[in-house]
Amino acid sequence: MPTALVTGVNRGLGLEFIKQYSQAGWDVIGTCRDLGSAVEASGLADVASNIELYPLEVTNSEAINSLADMLKDRPIDHLVLNAGVMAEQAQVLGELEQDDFMLAMNVNTVSPALMIQAFRAHLAAGDKKLVIGMSSILGSIAGNSDGGLYSYRASKAALNAVVKSAASDLAAEGITVVAMHPGWVQTDMGGEGATITTGVSIDGMRKVFEGLTATDSGRFLSYDGSDLPW
Ligand SMILES: NC(=O)c1ccc[n+]([C@@H]2O[C@H](COP(=O)([O-])OP(=O)(O)OC[C@H]3O[C@@H](n4cnc5c(N)ncnc54)[C@H](OP(=O)(O)O)[C@@H]3O)[C@@H](O)[C@H]2O)c1
Repeated sequence: MPTALVTGVNRGLGLEFIKQYSQAGWDVIGTCRDLGSAVEASGLADVASNIELYPLEVTNSEAINSLADMLKDRPIDHLVLNAGVMAEQAQVLGELEQDDFMLAMNVNTVSPALMIQAFRAHLAAGDKKLVIGMSSILGSIAGNSDGGLYSYRASKAALNAVVKSAASDLAAEGITVVAMHPGWVQTDMGGEGATITTGVSIDGMRKVFEGLTATDSGRFLSYDGSDLPW
């Protein structure tokens, strides 16, 4: 069975990712910052023998490398770089705080790059060889007509740049790297006004993943498969 590694699986999109991958019969490696409080994910892992959970604070590069080392004999088919933040004190001009801005950059941009670096060999050993950077339409520079959301937009635009470089650098190893927008989804981050459920978003994204080939590497896609402007 193929294996998916997903970060940030204790709630929101990550939780739905592990549910759907598990139901589809995949082996699932999920990571949570605080495993002890990941009640729903742990409940899933208790009843589904194909889900394994590991603690991972994605801003800790040593922890990323230790996890990669611990899993060194495990081929990974899909690496889903899902963990993300909307750092509240770094979105509005006049209220920007350096620490919050740097947190957004660390979680949303630096950590995905370090994860790709650490899991490169695992991906090369997998069959599907797919990396998904969980981006956002808010990271589209071309689509930014409203301003604001400084650290979120900047960190997701920078993630898109990471995706582009990795797509190019890993092409020779047959590894495909894409940036995905999951839609505006009903999660803690998306809020109550969001238009789609996690089920619809993940179902859509997983269908998109299934259709991707090496020629799609470096694309920025929505959950419905449409291309998004950089
Ligand atoms: N929801 C939307 O409408 C939407 C739209 C576009 C893009 N996205 C992107 O989709 C991804 C998932 O979003 P979501 O809506 O599911 O968000 P969410 O409900 O806020 O969940 C975020 C997840 O990321 C984890 N995380 C945050 N900082 C972390 C860290 N330092 N180390 C490890 N894990 C960390 C959280 O863990 P804790 O519980 O420990 O904080 C949580 O599991 C994010 O990258 C987000 O930017 C979401």
